[in-house]
Amino acid sequence: MKKILLFLFSTLLINMASAQKLSEDMFIENLLKQMTLEEKVGQLNQYSGNWKATGPNKVSANNVQEIEKGHIGSMLNVFGADVTRALQEHAMKSRLKIPLLFAQDVIHGFRVTLPVPLAEAASWDLTAIEKSARIAATEASAAGIHWTFAPMVDIARDPRWGRVVEGAGEDTYLGSQIAKARVKGFQGEGIGHTNSVVACAKHFAAYGAAMAGRDYNTVDISRRSLWETYLPPFKAALDAGVGTFMTSFNDLNGIPSTGNRYLLHDILRDKWHFKGVVVSDWGAIRELVPHGLCKDDKDAALKAINAGCDIDMESNCYNRYLADLVKAKAVSEETLDNAVRNVLRLKYKLGLFDDPFKFSNAEREKRELANPDHKKSAKEIAEKSIVLLKNDHETLPLSAKQKNIALIGPLVKSKADMKGPWAIQWDTDDDLISFYEGMEARIPQKTSLLYAKGCDINTTDKSGFDEAVETAAKADITIMVMGESFEMSGEARSKTDISLPGVQEELIKKIKSLGKPVVVVLMAGRPMTFSWTAEHADAILYTWWLGSEAGNAIANVLYGDYNPSGKLPITFPRSVGQIPIFYNAKNTGRPTPDENKISYGSAYIDSPNSPQYAFGYGLSYTSFKYSDLKLSSNQMLPSETLRVSCVISNTGKKKGEETVQLYIRDMYASATRPVKELKGFQKVDLAPGQSTTVNFIIDKETLSFYNQDMKWGVEPGTFKIMIGGASNNTPLEAQFDVI
Ligand code: GLC
Repeated sequence: MKKILLFLFSTLLINMASAQKLSEDMFIENLLKQMTLEEKVGQLNQYSGNWKATGPNKVSANNVQEIEKGHIGSMLNVFGADVTRALQEHAMKSRLKIPLLFAQDVIHGFRVTLPVPLAEAASWDLTAIEKSARIAATEASAAGIHWTFAPMVDIARDPRWGRVVEGAGEDTYLGSQIAKARVKGFQGEGIGHTNSVVACAKHFAAYGAAMAGRDYNTVDISRRSLWETYLPPFKAALDAGVGTFMTSFNDLNGIPSTGNRYLLHDILRDKWHFKGVVVSDWGAIRELVPHGLCKDDKDAALKAINAGCDIDMESNCYNRYLADLVKAKAVSEETLDNAVRNVLRLKYKLGLFDDPFKFSNAEREKRELANPDHKKSAKEIAEKSIVLLKNDHETLPLSAKQKNIALIGPLVKSKADMKGPWAIQWDTDDDLISFYEGMEARIPQKTSLLYAKGCDINTTDKSGFDEAVETAAKADITIMVMGESFEMSGEARSKTDISLPGVQEELIKKIKSLGKPVVVVLMAGRPMTFSWTAEHADAILYTWWLGSEAGNAIANVLYGDYNPSGKLPITFPRSVGQIPIFYNAKNTGRPTPDENKISYGSAYIDSPNSPQYAFGYGLSYTSFKYSDLKLSSNQMLPSETLRVSCVISNTGKKKGEETVQLYIRDMYASATRPVKELKGFQKVDLAPGQSTTVNFIIDKETLSFYNQDMKWGVEPGTFKIMIGGASNNTPLEAQFDVI
């Protein structure tokens, strides 16, 4: 009887789901049949609102008319319950009343600014990262936004590239886990819930491999690199249910992504079965002409739609030429209809046909944008994103012992910089907590703060040095807050020199020459080079850009209220000359010890091969011991799994978190393999003296790679397991064979 009931219930569920699907498909086909050619093209046209304007003049009068004619399917840079409601009302005046989509770059927070994505990646805390995206989605959806152009999942191994700030760093495995967490955070309980936004995996694909780290530059990589390094985070986002993809600006192996059918159709649709929407990046369709792929804008429209790019963001190529191309049969009606179906399907899933105004609720907007819990979470996530790079003689944490603390540097009092690039620009930066404000709120009663700016961020002017030296001379300890400005990273912010800008390192030298403890807090949206400081500072914190609660988070870490647990998601080079430098490199035929001398090995004569700081590196105020590595066997069949366990102990005096990292190396295979690859990590939180066992499972997927014929799978052979707290510090090692 039970089996019959179960069968009937599951049949009912399947029928309900297919009824829903059927009604979705029927609805879309029925609507499509009613649409004119111009109305179909209109759904593929996306325009931006006026960044600087607010209120009803956010959108030009001309575009309002275009909306009423059904010639615009989506807008970006328009948000606010009232503004979106007003524009949706214009859309309801169109013949078929097809609602607008509202999109925004909600990259790291909306009203409350969260740490930049590269900072959050340093937390290695997938729960925190998902929560960060959830907070952003809750606020953005309350402000009428349906769709965010995030997460950016581009793997980046070149810190000269300004957009490294927007991603999850250099590693494919970590980047894939974070891509999943961010998509889940943004989309929450699912597309259509009013506290969720549709996520967008961008920039498809391999944008982070721009030659010389120069933004928008050519990408020319092997198919192996494309599939091994750059595509997996996009597949991870797709497996997590991401609703949209965005094409990348770059030329990929001769075919710019926005006109690249191999990417947008063969991989995305045929191989990965993606059913969502593909939007071009800003003006990227029109850019196919300067790329030299297309003769003119009409040709660009032809190639982009036939490659599989559904929506034209701001190049107006589809709006001007697509109808003619269809009439001339250069573009089939089927191709056009498929693109329109993808857009209508997204609007249907959002529930906008039932209620076009469901996201434009002024009362909810007011409530969610003032939710105090969001700031509290922002501080917690910011604390987890800070990386302790150095702490000689236990300089940190601070205590009541330090009665006079000098705060010196161009970023001590900055509020605007704390938001980092790609933050939503509100009328004021007043609500961002500066480092100075964070310290004022945190210092013990009898401690006083002394302050001198010392110099500007990027200047040759040293006139402030004397005052800074005098100030430091009066203090027990000096904290120097140095780095880039927030505008030095992000889009179109590539640099040939990633050292500490201006005269900042000279100022550090001056202060250090006083012979007192110097703590350096470094802020930037990329790894910088600072070898003198690395060698001579007593302690160094790397804080990236931490958002609204920056000052409070840094002060709490300095005083040990939160024991820093961050680990670098990207390699820090000693010099720009080492770039590209990343941990999962190949061994070469002449692997070389880390000596800068003539060795006829793969090395430099003027620098060690090793980085300043390695991927996965980060210190704590306590210490951890790794022991008792155990494997369930020393061999396995490809169909089997191997259980790996080890013990981590807190051998210090403070409670702390450690990110236990599992790396593997395939010692030899039909294609060369990296000397190590991250294949697992777990964060453990231990009290002083406490130990815990950490378990990993090695399976076929863990060991698979693209063989000499680019076929994915595992080969018999010898594998090495390495476990530790950094890619260059894996005290536990063992080998096993796949037979
Ligand atoms: C930009 C960026 C992209 C962003 C889009 C819309 O040029 O490349 O990441 O989502 O335009 O602002």
